[in-house]
Amino acid sequence: MKRRYRFERVPPTRFMGRIIMKWGGGLISDKTSLCSAEFGRIQELADCVKSLSLMGHDIVIVHGAGSFGHIRARKFRLNEGDIDGLDQLDAVDQVRSDMDDLHNLVIDALEPLSITSHAPRDFVVNTGPNFKGNIDRFQLPGIHITFGDVVDCDSPKNFGILSGDDLMLRLSVELPDVTHTIFAMSGAPGLMTTADENGELIPLWDDTMTYSGHHSEDVDVTGGIFLKVERASSIAQYVGQVWLVDGRHPSRIMEIVENGHTVGTRFCSTS
Ligand code: IPE
Repeated sequence: MKRRYRFERVPPTRFMGRIIMKWGGGLISDKTSLCSAEFGRIQELADCVKSLSLMGHDIVIVHGAGSFGHIRARKFRLNEGDIDGLDQLDAVDQVRSDMDDLHNLVIDALEPLSITSHAPRDFVVNTGPNFKGNIDRFQLPGIHITFGDVVDCDSPKNFGILSGDDLMLRLSVELPDVTHTIFAMSGAPGLMTTADENGELIPLWDDTMTYSGHHSEDVDVTGGIFLKVERASSIAQYVGQVWLVDGRHPSRIMEIVENGHTVGTRFCSTS
């Protein structure tokens, strides 16, 4: 007699809320060397997303650019838009193609999850937090992924760099049911009192407090740590759990979601 087996994927018992997560470009790439990915870190973060998805969370991943974006964008001044007399269009195409390469590495690491990818160049016009673009497309249940990108801008700028941190703000504030917004970075456990070796972690931060950070303006075409802090602080006015953590320890992301605390900086609402 032929036996019949029924294979079932056990569906999560209930919807556990939406998590918006940034994977900083300096975390998933080596920022000093053009287009070099940190494969191990990408895989560890992807495995963390798989666990959160099994727990019943909807997730939006926003990844940065690191050496897949900043180096060439800086060289051709793409963040400044169309500059008279400077041939930038090949660089626009090249940076978009490099970002696609990084994006595909992230997507591969997330297999076999079914994910929906949204390249900003396909739905965003203009840069900064007030970019034009409908983010309803991220509302469908499941895992969505997007990234910092070269986007079209109104004339005369014509193009510019949209930071993933601005996407983080709009997604966190405008999507329903966002329970957690987590910025995963590298280099420090969170916000530090000073940028040197005497710096101490600030576990709870609000925008009446100071902190110390370093922004390599000669490399970064977006705002580095200062932009992240500004965006995280705005998001904290709307979302309960907003964190900056060291993404080299993805277990800390799991701890935030499972226990509500970890080693890192939590942003508090000032209202
Ligand atoms: C920058 O995006 C995008 C490009 C340079 C093309 P982000 O601002 O989100 O990138 P990271 O996290 O600083 O690398």
